[in-house]
Amino acid sequence: MTTLITGARGKVGRAVLGRLYSAGHPVRAASAHPAELSLPAGVEAVGLVLDRPETFAAALDGVRQVFLYPEPSGIRELVEAAEAAGVEQVVLLSSSSVLGPDAEADPLASHSLRVERALAASSLTCTFLRPDAFASNSFAWAHPIGRSLPVQLAYPDAQTAPIHPEDIADIAFEALTGDSLTGRSVTLTGPESLTFRAQLAVLSEAIGREIPVERISREAAERQMAAFMPAPVAGSLLDLWAAASHGPAAVADTTETLLGRPARSYTQWAAENAPAFTGH
Ligand SMILES: NC(=O)c1ccc[n+]([C@@H]2O[C@H](COP(=O)([O-])OP(=O)(O)OC[C@H]3O[C@@H](n4cnc5c(N)ncnc54)[C@H](OP(=O)(O)O)[C@@H]3O)[C@@H](O)[C@H]2O)c1
Repeated sequence: MTTLITGARGKVGRAVLGRLYSAGHPVRAASAHPAELSLPAGVEAVGLVLDRPETFAAALDGVRQVFLYPEPSGIRELVEAAEAAGVEQVVLLSSSSVLGPDAEADPLASHSLRVERALAASSLTCTFLRPDAFASNSFAWAHPIGRSLPVQLAYPDAQTAPIHPEDIADIAFEALTGDSLTGRSVTLTGPESLTFRAQLAVLSEAIGREIPVERISREAAERQMAAFMPAPVAGSLLDLWAAASHGPAAVADTTETLLGRPARSYTQWAAENAPAFTGH
């Protein structure tokens, strides 16, 4: 039963593929840039661009389940191609943002919500993994920290409950190989709510050096973020962080319950990834 892994260059997709391969499950790796994949021996790489339906049929041939990154453009065609290919199950890397009050109007949340809705309307068995902020979002701070510059934030007291991407991969593996998650939608978070300042203090411990934090205006943050993302997405993130500055982030026990062990901490993530912040 071949599993197609989309986003196989991504942090979670790569980790899910590695787990399935190590456990002896047949896997196929999909990427918009298959030549850039680094894969275990014998794993087939296939070109799949989630908004280009002409790439779907070959990638899905012989596939029984898909680990899917959300891309709303082309999702209707992807569902049709998956049904035609005999795919039975899809495990979607969605987002907790779909549960927000204005999810349909929000550019971040609607991205995943439109994919969930298309899948829910299909004949496929679907599991929706809805993680909160990834611990790996902190890589966005690697540039200033590596240069001993202050980390500039509009909302340094915003709180998230960062989840370790390896925990998401563990849960995706369970969804693809077991039956405890079949057909379910689960919100996933890390084990504790931390402000950005607190996350930077943990990173500071991990690299053995102080990390200065500088508060900047929302307008200045918008200008900086414009280099990396469309303005509406930056606006949506800033709104989220402004709202998250008023109290702790919700911590779900699903990660621990599903894995039968404590969720990995942000401190663990920081220790594992410290070299990315020091250039060593
Ligand atoms: N970050 C969060 O806090 C968060 C929270 C909830 C949900 N999510 C969801 O999780 C998904 C993954 O988010 P992410 O931010 O962690 O992305 P990611 O896993 O780093 O990458 C996602 C995809 O981007 C493509 N990509 C483009 N340039 C790349 C590069 N240089 N190296 C590796 N991959 C590259 C790859 O697809 P190709 O190989 O096909 O190009 C890759 O699979 C997103 O769909 C997001 O909606 C994220």
